[in-house]
Amino acid sequence: MDLKRLIKYSRKYLKLNLLGSILCIAAVIAALNIPVITKDIVDRVLLGGEFDLMGKLILTLFGLTVIRIATEYSRTYIFEHTSQRVLYDFRSDLYRKLQQQSFSYYDTVRTGTLMNRLVGDLQSVRQLLNSGYVSLFEGLFRIVSTLVMMISFSPSLTLALVLIVPVTYFAMRAMSKQLRPAYRQVRESFENLSSSVQENLTGIRVVKAFGREDYEKDRFNEISSEWNQNNIAAADIRSVYIPVRRLIEGFSTVIILLLGGYLVMQGQITIGTLFAFNTYVVMLAGPIQEASHLVNLWENAKASLEKVFELMDEEIVLTNKPDALPMPSCRGEVEFRNVDFSYGEQPVLKNINFKMEPGTTTAIMGSTGSGKSTIINLIARFYDVTGGEVLVDGINVKDYDYNELRKNIGIVFQETLLFSDTIANNIAFAVPDATDEQVEQAAKIADAHNFILDMPEGYDTVIGERGIGLSGGQRQRIAIARAILANPKILILDDATSSVDMETEHEIQQTLKQLMDNRTTLIVAHRISSVKDADQIIVLDEGRIVEQGTHDELLELRGKYYQTFIEQYREYKDGAGSLKLVSGGME
Ligand SMILES: Nc1ncnc2c1ncn2[C@@H]1O[C@H](COP(=O)(O)OP(=O)(O)O)[C@@H](O)[C@H]1O
Ligand SMILES: [Mg+2]
Repeated sequence: MDLKRLIKYSRKYLKLNLLGSILCIAAVIAALNIPVITKDIVDRVLLGGEFDLMGKLILTLFGLTVIRIATEYSRTYIFEHTSQRVLYDFRSDLYRKLQQQSFSYYDTVRTGTLMNRLVGDLQSVRQLLNSGYVSLFEGLFRIVSTLVMMISFSPSLTLALVLIVPVTYFAMRAMSKQLRPAYRQVRESFENLSSSVQENLTGIRVVKAFGREDYEKDRFNEISSEWNQNNIAAADIRSVYIPVRRLIEGFSTVIILLLGGYLVMQGQITIGTLFAFNTYVVMLAGPIQEASHLVNLWENAKASLEKVFELMDEEIVLTNKPDALPMPSCRGEVEFRNVDFSYGEQPVLKNINFKMEPGTTTAIMGSTGSGKSTIINLIARFYDVTGGEVLVDGINVKDYDYNELRKNIGIVFQETLLFSDTIANNIAFAVPDATDEQVEQAAKIADAHNFILDMPEGYDTVIGERGIGLSGGQRQRIAIARAILANPKILILDDATSSVDMETEHEIQQTLKQLMDNRTTLIVAHRISSVKDADQIIVLDEGRIVEQGTHDELLELRGKYYQTFIEQYREYKDGAGSLKLVSGGME
């Protein structure tokens, strides 16, 4: 069961928890003895006139109170600490799992949902761990020991009061049953809310650009009010049981006064006993009332635990073989053999065959959606092929440890993602221990050095989320520097120079060329100027390779590549007869 799995996490802190439990017991015992002293004060000092006992009794009372406070304080301290640490372990495990998940997992799940699991859900689990365990344990012990004390004072009076217990129990159980689905709905609507806030704020520029603020506001209000309503529904259930509880309390007071008063008059118990008894009943009310709070906590935590463990148990689609190969050195040979691939039902790549020799440059062209990025995803094994095989250095990528494989591949993605950190750290992302010189060197190659120096704090400038504050071209150049610094055997640029102007692109390519000597490079680009020097050019169309060869060979084919060439080189304007390039691509 979920709870058992949770307890496994606490096992590490068994000793501390044990100490906490002992302190709990001590606190309860101290509290239980306080009415014994007050009984003596009433019966022997106030009514019996033994005034010389007064000092001793007051001192004992004081001592007991001090013990009670000290033990209660330290047990709270201990449980707070252990529960935080258990939570930390738990969260680490969960995060590790998320890090292991492959691309295909993230295709299907919303970021906001995952955030909730890691933050909100774990928080309610912690509450259970902390006050939940303690209250349960302490509550039970308190109820039992208080009852024992009460019985020793007056069995008949206790019996009358105990009749109320089953009533309380059933009331709590009924509440718990109703609360469970209510809490689940609260969680679900909250998740919906935070997911949509997260998505919306991430896409705020798009929302504004299309003037969709009002629509998004309405949608938010709708989701938000749904959450409200679910919360209110849960609160309604809880509030119904408050009068029930008060009624039960009221009953117990009446019983004490009537039956207890009768017993005093009959001389069966003393007034001091009645006094003590009353205190015990109040003490008993505490844990019984807390039981309802506990039911709350428990239902809340259970709904959360369910979801957290669901995440924990999520199957990892892409795994290493048990005997996965390391990759101590990589030559940089890549080969696709009869590769088919689909993300879902729809085939995306069909019978792809090509080979990249070590140290050569391959360029891929093709319209949007033709499958260029997908080919890259398969080289780094972000997804597994559905047919055929992808080989690196002659070995199927599935046979490598994928982390080792990916260490040898540097990718500049089509969409540049920079972290909100300094520029230097963004560049050194793959090589955290890189020296400043190395970072600068990489930036120079990517033609980023100059604009970085122009930033307020140079390499130490912190950039915003998703690189806001930088132009698209600047972001791309930082991403290129990142890939260059990683010094991979296989360098992949997925449309990486689309946002930089043609001249800069040319410069970057010239510097890259020096680097490309002993490196296999794959370039996805739309401009003929970016691909014409490649050792081979692959033209993709709807997931198939339609043309393949060098620039000259493809021109001779008079096919798709040739058409693009004509479109892009149409204008001869320069007097010297050199080519004037017109921007534009195959799209
Ligand atoms: N993560 C994904 N899940 C489902 N379909 C995808 C995914 N990524 C891409 N596709 C689909 O696969 C096809 C090829 O995409 P992609 O390789 O990104 O094209 P390109 O990079 O050439 O523009 C497109 O039809 C696209 O919609
Ligand atoms: Mg793409």
